[in-house]
Amino acid sequence: MDAVLISGSPSASSKSRTLLERAQAQLEAVGCSTILIDLATLSADALLGRRTDDQLRSAVETVGRAQVVVASSPTYRATYSGLLKTFFDLLPQDCLVGKIGIPILTGGGPWHRLALDHSFSPLFTSLGATVVNGVYGHDGQFKNGPDAALLERVDRAIDDALAVARASSEAMKP
Ligand SMILES: Cc1cc2nc3c(=O)[nH]c(=O)nc-3n(C[C@H](O)[C@H](O)[C@H](O)COP(=O)(O)O)c2cc1C
Repeated sequence: MDAVLISGSPSASSKSRTLLERAQAQLEAVGCSTILIDLATLSADALLGRRTDDQLRSAVETVGRAQVVVASSPTYRATYSGLLKTFFDLLPQDCLVGKIGIPILTGGGPWHRLALDHSFSPLFTSLGATVVNGVYGHDGQFKNGPDAALLERVDRAIDDALAVARASSEAMKP
């Protein structure tokens, strides 16, 4: 199974990316092949549609090929980052049909955790993905890295996603 992981934080020491890397390790542990796309390293002009860029085009194609799409973001102004939004805006309509989406969001506190269900999950479903329960962590859960409960939450989200992916590929068999 192919999985793509998309980091939507501009931060060099990103907490949400740490959770994304945990998700990547869990997917690889069960034999998935993974690619991590760090949106902060892509051309801002290309993300804003001011010019074309091979790296960005390749990132969009990678998403199109994956069966599992995991995206992480910091909470900015009560929703996911603008960086993540610029990338999702460039994905073709319906390009996530048949794929499993997993949103991972971190915030400064627990106040905006509903953004996971109210805005981040709909970002995936607007492109056709089936979304499993995502993960919300807040900065208080990071002390020299994420705490055990948060890591377990990521692991469970990956387990859920793989179970749904396997069930839907079984259902497709003649
Ligand atoms: C511009 C900006 C806006 C933010 N807005 C919110 C917010 O609305 N709610 C919240 O809980 N945290 C907010 N935060 C805090 C970040 O979401 C939080 O520190 C997050 O864990 C950072 O993730 P990262 O390290 O992956 O970038 C904001 C931070 C910045 C820099």
